Amino acid sequence: QPAPRKLVVQVPEAEVEDLTQKKVTIFFGTQTGTAEGFAKALAEEAKIRYEKRVIVKVVDLDEYGADDDEYEMRLKKEKLAIFMLATYGDGEPTDNAARFYKWFVEGKESRGEWLSGLSFGVFGLGNKQYEHFNEVGKKVDEALAEQGAKRLTPCGLGDDDQCIEDDFAAWKAQLWIELDPLLIEDQRATPAVTTPYIAAILEYRVVFHDKDTKVLEGIYEPRANGHSVYDMNHPCRANVAVRRELHTPESDRSCIHLEFDIKNTGLMYGTGDHVGVFPENLQENVEEAARLLGYSLDTKFTLHADDEDGCPLGGGFLAPPFPGPCDLRTALARYADLITPPKKAALAALAAHASDPSQRDRLKFLASPLGKDEYVQYISSKYRSLLEVMMEFPSARPPLGVFFASVSPRLQARYYSISSSPRFAQDRIHVTCSLVYGVSPTGRFHRGVCSTWMKNSLPETEVGSKCSWAPIFVRQSNFKLPSDPSVPIIMIGPGTGLAPFRGFMQERAYVKESGQVLGPALLFFGCRSRKMDYIYQDELTGFYENGVITGLSVAFSREGPEKVYVQHKMVEQASTIWKLLSSGGYLYVCGDAKGMAKDVHRALHTIIQEQASMDNANAEAFVKQLQTEGRYLRDVW
Ligand code: 2AM
Repeated sequence: QPAPRKLVVQVPEAEVEDLTQKKVTIFFGTQTGTAEGFAKALAEEAKIRYEKRVIVKVVDLDEYGADDDEYEMRLKKEKLAIFMLATYGDGEPTDNAARFYKWFVEGKESRGEWLSGLSFGVFGLGNKQYEHFNEVGKKVDEALAEQGAKRLTPCGLGDDDQCIEDDFAAWKAQLWIELDPLLIEDQRATPAVTTPYIAAILEYRVVFHDKDTKVLEGIYEPRANGHSVYDMNHPCRANVAVRRELHTPESDRSCIHLEFDIKNTGLMYGTGDHVGVFPENLQENVEEAARLLGYSLDTKFTLHADDEDGCPLGGGFLAPPFPGPCDLRTALARYADLITPPKKAALAALAAHASDPSQRDRLKFLASPLGKDEYVQYISSKYRSLLEVMMEFPSARPPLGVFFASVSPRLQARYYSISSSPRFAQDRIHVTCSLVYGVSPTGRFHRGVCSTWMKNSLPETEVGSKCSWAPIFVRQSNFKLPSDPSVPIIMIGPGTGLAPFRGFMQERAYVKESGQVLGPALLFFGCRSRKMDYIYQDELTGFYENGVITGLSVAFSREGPEKVYVQHKMVEQASTIWKLLSSGGYLYVCGDAKGMAKDVHRALHTIIQEQASMDNANAEAFVKQLQTEGRYLRDVW
């Protein structure tokens, strides 16, 4: 066995500190790019505000240190650190902040007050509809103070449900008040910019090509010898092998079972992991967007992030969404977010390219700090899509370089809990996805981009090699079965929350087949009615009959006069649940975070309190303990 390698970190030449210059480091933990965009905008603004007196760096937390030692060594040297941190799912950090977060927050007690030389500010990005609103920002803010660092301004709590850009602007205004005296030595001097700096409208350089130019889409080649590292930035092209509807024709909704073929791609996954899928926009939205932009769908072009002399545009922070020549049809289908409500920065960019003065003024107002209430009224609370806004302001015709850089955010991957186990389906990734649709407050018929793409996708089983495909990648999760299969488990997953448990059961079936002893396993599933949306019914009863699970409780919410939910079924089984938990069992919850997971949490608390005759505080401590031991796991969205 090779000896453990001690990582020797060499600070590159360029990073050797210039002691005469002050330095601000802006860290970001981003999933969809908003926190990263804010970090870069803050950096640009700081550069202007403090001119050349200050070095401003923007740092991806994942790239800050190769291990905990390096994090420690580098952080110790910082004097001024600003953190832009998004919170995801069940109060979790973004993938690129996960390692830092674990080290910094979980290990805080062991390090004492070692950061007394550091001043900091934290801005969190979250959504108030979730229980753990901005948990990551708050925890890092707390941990910084507990480790001796000096808080410049209270932790900003950005709420994406309203207008996160306004929250950011308000927090930033407070930050400057604290930073100015630290960074401007001559106190009589005023900062270079005294009015709030509005992020510049970014723009790619566009080169148009003639119609014969070959389109270079993405680069999704399987990598050599199976050691592929696919991630969000290097997804794997995977064909849709199977697609079928899981609801019966009696249901007015739709839930799709989809299988991606990953044979010979080297892409690997584990039971309980998530798959990220880059969908395509609906054809009708793509056509509408091209019409509003005033270009033919066959227009071929390349987006460049540097000017003709090779100097980077946008402060060096721009990266083109696709590598080479692309037609507008593909660019709009695969890379542009057309139906999310536009951010204020997008409205400002549209305003800059509106020829009708009244339209321009209205857009400008919506994008301004004064237009805060109007923005929430007109945009966020109405879920008004970018395309709707462009239709209502037809004189706003941004050039393609502006559209892709400033108006339409990059179309993001959607994550699904994988509903298979590689022990059962090594060459396939199964997804269970319900169709997202509904009428928005403006009367627009909203269709979720990825679920609609999945519903309309053409599987290999029907059309052979002409099948649909998508760039995909796997994100590991900690939603895992106990390593010892004899440990009892309780699974709670109504609706598509069943997905990872289908993988768990496939895995248990495999373990059973191989002769190992399985511990007790209860599954709580919920749906509207037996006749419409009891998905995978045959499989579930099969697992129960074959002893893969020892209990199957299904809550039908719309069969009788009263709603019956999974938590009601849990109460019926209270003594069994307590028996399994008190003998070392694991409890898993998957599905809707806003309603179900909260209610199930409450039911669990009550069950423990009653069954163990504990008082409220002790029951709470028991649940906390389960969480700390990793025996109460949630995969919720
Ligand atoms: P409902 O739509 O009839 O209210 C899967 O979506 C199942 O979860 C449905 O039967 C749905 O019932 C149910 N459900 C809705 N809200 C819930 C909650 N807060 N807790 C548990 N189940 C819920």
